[in-house]
Amino acid sequence: MKVLVIGSGGREHTLVWKLSQSPKVEKIYAAPGNGGIASSASCVDINANDIPALKKFADDNKIDLTIVGPEDPLAQGIVDVFTEKDLPIFGPTGSAARIESSKSFAKEIMKKYDIPTAASETFENSDDAVDYIKAQGAPIVIKADGLAAGKGVIPCTTMESALEAVQKIMVDKVFGDAGNKVVVEEFLEGEEASILAFSDGSTVIPMASSQDHKRAYDNDEGPNTGGMGAYSPAPVVTDEISDDIYCKILVPTIEGMKESGIEYKGILYAGLMITENGPRVIEFNCRFGDPELQVVLPRLKTDLVEPVMACINGNLDQVHLEWDPRAAVCVVMASGGYPGKYEKGKPIEGLANAEEESDITIFHAGTAQKDDKYITSGGRVLGVTALGNDIPTAIEHAYTAVNKINFENVYYRKDIGQKALKRLG
Ligand code: AMP
Ligand code: GLY
Repeated sequence: MKVLVIGSGGREHTLVWKLSQSPKVEKIYAAPGNGGIASSASCVDINANDIPALKKFADDNKIDLTIVGPEDPLAQGIVDVFTEKDLPIFGPTGSAARIESSKSFAKEIMKKYDIPTAASETFENSDDAVDYIKAQGAPIVIKADGLAAGKGVIPCTTMESALEAVQKIMVDKVFGDAGNKVVVEEFLEGEEASILAFSDGSTVIPMASSQDHKRAYDNDEGPNTGGMGAYSPAPVVTDEISDDIYCKILVPTIEGMKESGIEYKGILYAGLMITENGPRVIEFNCRFGDPELQVVLPRLKTDLVEPVMACINGNLDQVHLEWDPRAAVCVVMASGGYPGKYEKGKPIEGLANAEEESDITIFHAGTAQKDDKYITSGGRVLGVTALGNDIPTAIEHAYTAVNKINFENVYYRKDIGQKALKRLG
């Protein structure tokens, strides 16, 4: 079959890498892809948000399966557009994608179906939000309702900063219309984990657990980023917690959506806080996580095409996922300055040397090819993933490979996986 992957980051390289191992896949296209993706897929110069051009490409090239990486095209209804033309595509419809694109919608579903999450209120008027925050006190979390490129969530330790956040989002409109409403939420204490689950609208199959590292600097300090590294499995997700996530969160969410007239097909990504009182939903996303996928897919033994096609065709109950018992750790190598300003175009040295190590896979997030060499072209540049018999081994292995790679002003966190080590004792 011919497969089209939409997007240009490390997550999309991971999808292409896994698909290229499938005996069912003859040809992979990526739109727009990146330098690293180009080594195993034909990159086509179409923006991930240009839905008419993507539809035309899929139609003209008789694409048998399209997999969407980022949330924006999903929120804009790419699945509706493709499905109307009978072009098979993996992901939720625009209406179902509101679980990510509207935090107030996600909260409504959670409230209606008793899905454990932080207590919250939604406001369309900044004065009402301010009154509520004053009554609640800090710490408290202020969230822009709509998509804000991962920057719309502001955890506040003081009342003053919470009031400032409301001003920024609702009055100054720094995230545009995404700030027409705010969700003001209880601050949850605990450790975070991500569960990405396949859904065909009725059956839900969770993938292996993982944990992201969202902050830029070691010890979870500094600004939020797209994610500086990940590991899988996440020891904080014990078997008992895992059962709770399945029974109290994933299944009721898919069932609740169905009852509300919305069939949810694709990936349901639950961003969770594992609290003293059990798992609580921080957010839902309507797609694979990045960099979580870089540690989850290398552990999946099953051909990815199987669960993906089963979600589209509605027979996920026939699928069984097989997992590699080993652990995976991914260290993201970024351009110095990220998530703020950074320079591009730096030659990357040592890739081949690092890839010679066994059980190392390097996923390109922001690279381009120039004169047969890779150069940096984004904030997050590479995700270096290692498999190991346990998390400590995988960490050591990942950093051995990272140390072989270099580019000017390279930056990466040195503490990926440390929370798992603490928990493992
Ligand atoms: P999000 O963009 O929704 O993933 O939120 C970004 C980060 O903000 C999360 O990864 C958490 O670290 C933090 N966060 C969001 N909501 C809460 C909450 N209710 N309590 C504590 N931290 C939160
Ligand atoms: N790892 C965070 C995200 O994919 O949203």
